[in-house]
Amino acid sequence: MTETTEAASEVLTIRNLSVSYSQGLGRPRLRAVHDVDITVGRGETVSIVGESGSGKSTIGGAILGLTPVDSGSIRLYGEEIAGVTGKGRRALSARLQAVFQDPFSSLDPARTVRDSVAEPLRAETGLTPAQVRERVDEVLRRVGVDPALASRYPSAFSGGQRQRLSIARALVRRPQLVVCDEAVSALDVSVQAQVLNLLDELQTEAGTSYVFISHNMAVVRHISDRIVVLYHGRIMEEGPAEDVADRPAHPYTRSLLAAVPVPEVNAQRARRLARTAATVRTEFAPVGGVGCPFAPRCPLAEARCVESTPPLVEFAPGRKSACVRIEDSLAAGHEEGVALTTLKVAAS
Ligand SMILES: Nc1ncnc2c1ncn2[C@@H]1O[C@H](COP(=O)(O)OP(=O)(O)O)[C@@H](O)[C@H]1O
Ligand SMILES: [Mg+2]
Repeated sequence: MTETTEAASEVLTIRNLSVSYSQGLGRPRLRAVHDVDITVGRGETVSIVGESGSGKSTIGGAILGLTPVDSGSIRLYGEEIAGVTGKGRRALSARLQAVFQDPFSSLDPARTVRDSVAEPLRAETGLTPAQVRERVDEVLRRVGVDPALASRYPSAFSGGQRQRLSIARALVRRPQLVVCDEAVSALDVSVQAQVLNLLDELQTEAGTSYVFISHNMAVVRHISDRIVVLYHGRIMEEGPAEDVADRPAHPYTRSLLAAVPVPEVNAQRARRLARTAATVRTEFAPVGGVGCPFAPRCPLAEARCVESTPPLVEFAPGRKSACVRIEDSLAAGHEEGVALTTLKVAAS
């Protein structure tokens, strides 16, 4: 432990993380993630939700060492891993793994499933071929794939099965933390639910922690302990999953919920809410990076929203929001009845 105040149960501790990208010569760098704090405990799932481009994968990439960070700290069981590359990063692969949207990024189409799933074990010295075989068979059974099929190639499997195979590959070394980046987004809704249930079961068995990245609140609602809502690289709101999904505190979270696919009975209301959020009021555009990034799209925006950047404030135990109109926002949400439960979402 680098810090004695850090609870032993903290698997991942991200503090003041900022990441930017070059946009080419003569153009300012794009700030993709601003000063983000995220903590994940043992056996916990923390989801990062937000629209496309909000910076979710950038955070995932920073954790996985795929994206260089500007500043801040990322600790795995107290050990600093931000910016760790090369040999140090390879050594982390026993403890930290990922599942992405496209299984072909982890399953080489030219290799058998057994080869791909066994690949992370190569770094583990002292395993005999028979032990490797046993470990692969065991993890395949755990994800619900018959080991007898392991001599086949990924193309012989359905999308849902391929995602089970990527999960097997990620779990074969029994990592402490798995970053799931849009891991079920490409799957049909019924298959999504199966894969989410599988992830949940595997977590219960092994105490694995997940950082679960998704643009869809309905997907994360049931598997998350906590949800962090990201917009323009800033945390807008966070809290226990059921609170964020059912009693959203930030106007941005409400607009995200309104975008969740809903049955026809609620579609009209959802469309009305989505329209409100789609109206852009340029007078509330943050200038020079100062101000609430959501203000131009926010039905509650007023001058003070862009005078300074609203800080993320704890307004109730474990609940944070970066809205200066928190009371009005909660009241408006209550009135609109925007919540996953009231929208009766079909997914997940
Ligand atoms: N390699 C890159 N180079 C330049 N800009 C990038 C790069 N990757 C992502 N971005 C930009 O950073 C922002 C956040 O992207 P990303 O983290 O992929 O968002 P999300 O996963 O939420 O869709 C977006 O504006 C995106 O265009
Ligand atoms: Mg992404």
